[in-house]
Amino acid sequence: MSAAAFTLSRVSHRFDDATVAATALCDVTLSVAPGEVVALIGPSGAGKSTLLALLDGRLRDWRGRARVLGAPLSPDAPPARAHRADVGFVFQDFALIDRQSVYQNVMNGRLGRTPAWRSLWGRFGERDHMAVAAALHDTGLADLAARRADQLSGGQRQRVAIARCLAQEPRLILADEPISNLDPAHAAKLLALITGEARKRGIAVMFSSHQPELAQRFADRVVGLGDGEILFDRPAGRLSDDDIARLYYGRARGGAGLRVVGQ
Ligand SMILES: Nc1ncnc2c1ncn2[C@@H]1O[C@H](COP(=O)(O)OP(=O)(O)O)[C@@H](O)[C@H]1O
Ligand SMILES: [Mg+2]
Repeated sequence: MSAAAFTLSRVSHRFDDATVAATALCDVTLSVAPGEVVALIGPSGAGKSTLLALLDGRLRDWRGRARVLGAPLSPDAPPARAHRADVGFVFQDFALIDRQSVYQNVMNGRLGRTPAWRSLWGRFGERDHMAVAAALHDTGLADLAARRADQLSGGQRQRVAIARCLAQEPRLILADEPISNLDPAHAAKLLALITGEARKRGIAVMFSSHQPELAQRFADRVVGLGDGEILFDRPAGRLSDDDIARLYYGRARGGAGLRVVGQ
């Protein structure tokens, strides 16, 4: 039996600052299998970004137990470099370096896999160049490799961010609202690219989204988060209109209001 991509047991977190003490995660228990594609949906403030940051090893002072790719996560310290390289994160704003070429931006995905002295001198190995070439090809960017990132369209920039993540050769991809700024056609294309490439490579994915229809269309499983708690966790095909209504309106309502489209 292969280990889960990640397992969370009774994980909780509160943000404490001078003015508010907000419970961002409350007793979250969740397990995702290798190669599984999971959508995390829920209203603004539900705790989606907090949960993804925790899995990415960026959150401190949480309680409970968490294992990611077979290694325990600590609430007190960031994970080891080798472990970080196995987790790819796609940020909402894509975080590209504007004055670098597409090729260099995608190569940045290799930084965690290259000895620091070598990457400092720009001396990446053949393995690195091969991973970048494959990622550029798979994301349809091969012809744009030499172009500077600031000369790309929005859609092309999104693909560069995904190519950078794939070049990293992660075993788990976390994506925080990767489609929130996109029109529906681009959003569907982008999710198809992330989930399609991940499935081809056997990479587990968890992406957060505000859009239940797209989540259901592209994920194997949909997890609903409300006020820091998991309200449901279902195979994508079994998501109901009531699930969505409860998540966004705090109550069930008949099938008439919101439509959840089928596959
Ligand atoms: N740095 C922070 N300091 C204080 N509270 C925060 C911080 N980040 C998030 N929160 C609070 O934690 C809760 C969950 O936020 P977040 O994880 O960003 O939700 P989501 O991504 O689902 O919109 C919210 O109540 C939010 O206001
Ligand atoms: Mg968020």
